[in-house]
Amino acid sequence: MYTIEKSNEIADKIFEIWVDAPHVARNAQAGQFVIIRIDETGERIPLTISRARGDLVRIVFMAVGKTTHALAAIKPGGNIADIVGPLGHPSEVKSWGTCVIVGGGAGISSTPCIAEALKKAGNKVIGIIGARNAGMLIFEDEMREICDELHVTTDDGSKGRHGFAADVLKETVADQKIDAVWIIGPAIMMKITSMATRDKGIKTFVSLNPIMVDGTGMCGSCRCQVAGKTVFACVDGPEFDAHEVDFDLLMQRQRYYMEQEKEAIALWNQ
Ligand code: FES
Repeated sequence: MYTIEKSNEIADKIFEIWVDAPHVARNAQAGQFVIIRIDETGERIPLTISRARGDLVRIVFMAVGKTTHALAAIKPGGNIADIVGPLGHPSEVKSWGTCVIVGGGAGISSTPCIAEALKKAGNKVIGIIGARNAGMLIFEDEMREICDELHVTTDDGSKGRHGFAADVLKETVADQKIDAVWIIGPAIMMKITSMATRDKGIKTFVSLNPIMVDGTGMCGSCRCQVAGKTVFACVDGPEFDAHEVDFDLLMQRQRYYMEQEKEAIALWNQ
């Protein structure tokens, strides 16, 4: 059993929990993820490691389905059955030059860890974070502290620039030489935002979030198409070259269990 030491709703339906999991926290690197199970009969869900401090690992999620609602309902001091990780390859952290880290919605939660690792490796780091509205923006202060420059956008203009992170990325790559870009958020946001760097041939990473079960390359549920080949996001990723990902197939596969998910959340709400 793993204890949730802290739990907060940091934005509308977005929760952060700090779990006491020394084996994960001490080995976690930027870009990696964990698979958690709330109890013995619970489904396994993959969640990105947002930060690690001492024995604690921070996980951020949006309460949208049965499992994430159940996770959000656990009070500090409560337990979850399993946390497996760190899983997946870490982000490609090296001396790139100037890097841009783009986070959208709950995907912003992964950006401080990657931005911090890239800063430590001697890069200039430009952050762009975007959310639907001011109430859904997370980790602005954390990112401002780490990044050399931070741009904030909201879809409705309630904070920062009115518009999308993709607009700022387009201008940034037009204005200066950018050596590598990370884009993390919903699949549709990653698909659209990564178009801003395609023509310029800028190395662009996205972190894929397909349905996962075992996280060890055995079940095949996380298979994605990258550069025309089948890959398993859990063991080959989760980060891939954005310009080679078949996002439409990813989004189609993310919807596989939509009916069952609706049923599960309806039962949970009863
Ligand atoms: Fe089973 Fe990746 S989650 S193969």
